[in-house]
Amino acid sequence: MSLSPLIWVLHGPNLNRLGSREPEIYGATTLDQINESLLNRAKALGVRLDCFQTNHEGAMIERIHHAPEQRVAFMLINPAAFTHTSVAIRDAIASVAIPFVEIHISNVHRREPFRHHSYFSDLAEAVICGLGPTGYLAALDFAAQKIGIPRG
Ligand code: DQA
Repeated sequence: MSLSPLIWVLHGPNLNRLGSREPEIYGATTLDQINESLLNRAKALGVRLDCFQTNHEGAMIERIHHAPEQRVAFMLINPAAFTHTSVAIRDAIASVAIPFVEIHISNVHRREPFRHHSYFSDLAEAVICGLGPTGYLAALDFAAQKIGIPRG
């Protein structure tokens, strides 16, 4: 029996502080709540989902390097501040060539100019920003559709 497709969710630095971190920007939802809603939706869609958060650039890179051997079909990534700084994570993603959606909880284009540039967007299948936690669910639905899961 073949396993159902695997989707990885990768959360970058400071996202473990969601819920208490700058709630006027990021809202009151915690990372655990976001992951739980994603896991519930994944179950309904019939895909396997694995969530990972790190505050370390090297840990994120090494995680991404393991994606091909784990046969990851799609990734949902919020690189957080690394979005605007990390050529190294961009290169890691390019090296594995697995399709991904870039997600931001806030509308980065309405914020400081340094948040307007992303090292990831031109590699991404899609970019979602400003939808709050709903953005993750929208990205998961899109990913499932892309990898051929029939709509529930
Ligand atoms: C973020 C936006 C980034 O600019 C910021 O550094 C984050 C979170 C978002 O989800 O809105 O940490 O990626």
